[in-house]
Amino acid sequence: MATNNSEIAVPLATEPLHAAHGSRRDAPAHHPAPASRLATISGEGALDVLSRSAVLEAQGRDIAQLAIGEPHFAVAPHIVEAATAALREGDARYGPPAGIAALRGAIAATLGGRGIDASADDVIVTPGAKPMVLYAFLATVEPGSEVLIPDPGFPIYPSLTRFVGANPVGYRLDPANAYTPDVDDIAARITARTRVLVLNAPHNPTGGSVDARTLEKIAELALRHDLFVITDEIYGRVVYDTDSTPSIAALPGLRDRTILVDGFSKTYAMTGYRLGYGLVPHWLVPRLNTLVVNGHTCTPPFVQRAGIAALTGPQDAVRSMVAELRRRRDDVVAALGTISGVRSPKPSGAFYAFPDVSEIIAATGLSAPQLASRLLEEHGVALLPGNGFGAAGASSFRISFAGTADAVRNGLARIASGLAAIATRTA
Ligand SMILES: Cc1ncc(COP(=O)(O)O)c(C=O)c1O
Repeated sequence: MATNNSEIAVPLATEPLHAAHGSRRDAPAHHPAPASRLATISGEGALDVLSRSAVLEAQGRDIAQLAIGEPHFAVAPHIVEAATAALREGDARYGPPAGIAALRGAIAATLGGRGIDASADDVIVTPGAKPMVLYAFLATVEPGSEVLIPDPGFPIYPSLTRFVGANPVGYRLDPANAYTPDVDDIAARITARTRVLVLNAPHNPTGGSVDARTLEKIAELALRHDLFVITDEIYGRVVYDTDSTPSIAALPGLRDRTILVDGFSKTYAMTGYRLGYGLVPHWLVPRLNTLVVNGHTCTPPFVQRAGIAALTGPQDAVRSMVAELRRRRDDVVAALGTISGVRSPKPSGAFYAFPDVSEIIAATGLSAPQLASRLLEEHGVALLPGNGFGAAGASSFRISFAGTADAVRNGLARIASGLAAIATRTA
């Protein structure tokens, strides 16, 4: 099973489907074999930990939830009102596949404000950022080719790379370098088969960012080796030490080979609305629109009306959320700094800390998943073992500080006391 008492694991696509879905039904005696490509995709550990936490909570346990990357902040009232007004007005029929013009215009204006040459014609709205990531992979990755992805990184990138028949090649994000991409390491991994480079900054799971000079060097590589770039900027407004995130799409020559992915889930805490978008090279827009027509027809119009309100209305809720997250970032780093055997670079964006716990692994003989499982089962704090984010994350935890303030406060105390108790017991 995907979760049990001893270890938290990412569900494997090779498990029977009913097991992956948590059903207790016995497997039927015979069924047709599913398409072999289904065995290439894998899920997100966060959703497993969440369901195990729910089981423990149903048993009366109090769990401090630091596993899920979802802002526990209210959606601003003017956004809620825009969605409900649209519903009252009956704005709930099919709409244009690429999205309604007013939203595409507002998105283009927002991107223009970041120095990106964006016209509304090149914006495609999707139900969440994830579908745009899928479409970007389907549109650019050739079977048998190689895709450069961050390691550690968002688990959906290697999963989709395999799903489209290509090979993921991880480039290293090093804690000693505040988890910024290392241009020389990326360059060393480019081969004749490399087609696509995936960037994600601010970064899930490390909270690392990328500076303008590094982006310029990465852009040079993409141009020299004729690569597509998929840049996932979903955390672009959640930054703590600067005002904004530079985008590779703003650099000369890059717009025609870059798909920029962003959305409303993190910035506006609109995870359940499902609203995202891509800024797409002009020449690729018709093909991508055909993918949209094949995949989901259109994004719900009343949700798009909420998106217009989000982008064009007051931004106070965003500012106060980021200010609160900045305070928490400082508290999390300070608290982790007091725990022996834990080393945590300071996240500069997103809402994750990615502390290295290799000293605790060496001292206790327990892996990161085993430690995470003990922390959940015995000490009531849910966090993610870093191995779910790639080989380079094997000695780390991902701690989300986007949940409730109580969860963050209690969770940090439980991590400290829990790790001390585990270390004493295994000594
Ligand atoms: C790096 C990254 N990209 C994309 C997404 C998906 O965003 P959405 O909820 O808009 O589909 C997430 C969500 O966790 C993420 O961390």
